[in-house]
Amino acid sequence: MNLLEARGLKVSYGGINAVKGIDLEIHEGELVALIGANGAGKSTTLRALVGLEPPAGGAIHYQGHSIIRQPTHQLIRKGLVLVPEGRGIFGRLTVEENLHMGAYCRSNAKEIKADVQRVYARFSLLQERCRQAAGTLSGGEQQMLAIGRALMSRPRLLLLDEPSMGLAPLMVQKIFETIRAISAEGVAILLVEQNAKLALETSHRGYVLESGLITLHDEARALLNNQKVRHAYLGE
Ligand SMILES: Nc1ncnc2c1ncn2[C@@H]1O[C@H](COP(=O)(O)OP(=O)(O)OP(=O)(O)O)[C@@H](O)[C@H]1O
Ligand SMILES: [Mg+2]
Repeated sequence: MNLLEARGLKVSYGGINAVKGIDLEIHEGELVALIGANGAGKSTTLRALVGLEPPAGGAIHYQGHSIIRQPTHQLIRKGLVLVPEGRGIFGRLTVEENLHMGAYCRSNAKEIKADVQRVYARFSLLQERCRQAAGTLSGGEQQMLAIGRALMSRPRLLLLDEPSMGLAPLMVQKIFETIRAISAEGVAILLVEQNAKLALETSHRGYVLESGLITLHDEARALLNNQKVRHAYLGE
């Protein structure tokens, strides 16, 4: 069974059709890349999947149930979690307060505390800076915090919107290592990336989005060898 399945998904902003009827599926534990040029509709797709944009048409099923028009906080509770473009951390709150925000729909204080420790075990630099205002972290550290905060809601499917954006090469490597580690623990991931090469090298499968339409989808390895993908997205 597909963990997530979108069929004929459409999203419009006023009269502009940003997503024009796409089919997309993610299996349990799978790591899937969604690549495309600026303005292709990648962020819109992710936002629609978590209920932040109302679809203009189509169906979305998660764990076998329709989630159309379900509020985002309910989807988070079911383990469907977005780490948004630009990270969306709370700059004036401390690192630890930001992590607690990620658990706002949970109530077991003991479990939450244990999960904060688990995030610190994964990102030791967050622990070192736990009392620091999140806005003073570097871009890479903020991305780690954003991912850590998402992990606080114990996701089954994590949607990552351009996690490597604006980061130095070493930090990009670190973020991708983290993505692979989270995937290896069985969390399904839908990864939107400008860095198409790294994204496809890291993923099982991939989708290519062009002007609101999926124009290619295949095993990631096949996409890496696809002439069109190499020319348009891998800079060859
Ligand atoms: N809130 C909005 N209101 C109106 N139009 C929007 C809005 N958000 C996005 N769009 C438009 O929808 C289209 C898709 O935008 P989207 O942000 O999904 O693209 P993207 O693939 O994520 O691009 P990028 O790589 O630059 O992040 C673009 O033409 C954009 O201008
Ligand atoms: Mg985007």
